[in-house]
Amino acid sequence: MSAIKVIEREVLKEKPQGPMGFGQLFTDYMFTMDYKEGKGWHHALIKPYQNIEISPAAQVLHYGQAVFEGMKAYRQGDDIILFRPEENFKRMNLSNARLNIPEVDVAFLLDALQQLVRLEQDWIPAGQGESLYIRPFVIATEPYLGVHAATEYQFMIILSPVGAYYGDDQLMATRIYVEDEYVRAVRGGVGFAKVAGNYAASLAAQTRASELGYHQVLWLDGVEQRYIEEVGSMNIFFVMDGKVVTPELNGSILPGITRKSILQLAAYLGYEVEERRIAIEEVMNAESVSEIFGTGTAAVISPVGSIRYQDREVVINNGATGPVTQHLYDEYTAIQEGRKADPFNWCLKI
Ligand code: COI
Repeated sequence: MSAIKVIEREVLKEKPQGPMGFGQLFTDYMFTMDYKEGKGWHHALIKPYQNIEISPAAQVLHYGQAVFEGMKAYRQGDDIILFRPEENFKRMNLSNARLNIPEVDVAFLLDALQQLVRLEQDWIPAGQGESLYIRPFVIATEPYLGVHAATEYQFMIILSPVGAYYGDDQLMATRIYVEDEYVRAVRGGVGFAKVAGNYAASLAAQTRASELGYHQVLWLDGVEQRYIEEVGSMNIFFVMDGKVVTPELNGSILPGITRKSILQLAAYLGYEVEERRIAIEEVMNAESVSEIFGTGTAAVISPVGSIRYQDREVVINNGATGPVTQHLYDEYTAIQEGRKADPFNWCLKI
């Protein structure tokens, strides 16, 4: 593909002052490129952030051909870093393959992303726990009401300066509700892919849990509704008998990049780590479970303070952030924010 054309805007927006929450503010520019069958990906542009125009018959609006990614840029003193961006673009291609969307060129997008983030560097917040959230996504734009793999797509990257995902406190312990009616995903379905429909399918249960006073839903497997899969839009970890344990990837669980990184970091810090099936009874019988936390790009590490399954509620670590969760959070964010060396080469300086 040819070089990326940049269309400059005349007036830049005001940068936020103070807490910025998650995902409500957007920067000055966005990246877009188009796909057409026979022509491939083309027309790569960095242009002012703006609304997009698509046909009401665009296939994404009817049949949900949409995938996305989430990653972050951090400020490390005078440097800017992207955290494992290649992993996200590679995962996007797994999601694309599952939804029959054409593959994207990882090397080209890594370059485009660096160009975009460099242009928008003044939007990267510098406070602890703050970062620039990066949202690449693809939608099917072909105007056609027959069901087939679209022949036209648009790929975009938008940027949003963010603080904590839940409230103001990154490590607020959440209350979780075990969903035993709906399931998030099934094996052979799209659970392992980051497709928009997975999130749409989670909303009714999420709303019901919120109405009952819980922050998020814990998802069980789609076959026996017995084995733990994910929590909200995150992977889940348990500290059991001192070990750091997470459900093994089985086709219906998202292969989170934070999940993979925390497994690596925990082992490096000397914890025993384990990926295996975990039944809900094992957790409700909480003697061996001392801590629970979710992991994801947006929320980073989110401690769980209590868990409700059917008519029982179990409090974990007195409803507070546990020492292992805190340790992993401190070490992980220190690497991302450049307060500690990065022994894994996760941070790409741009
Ligand atoms: C992320 O952690 O980046 C996610 O995908 C969660 C998002 C749906 C808010």
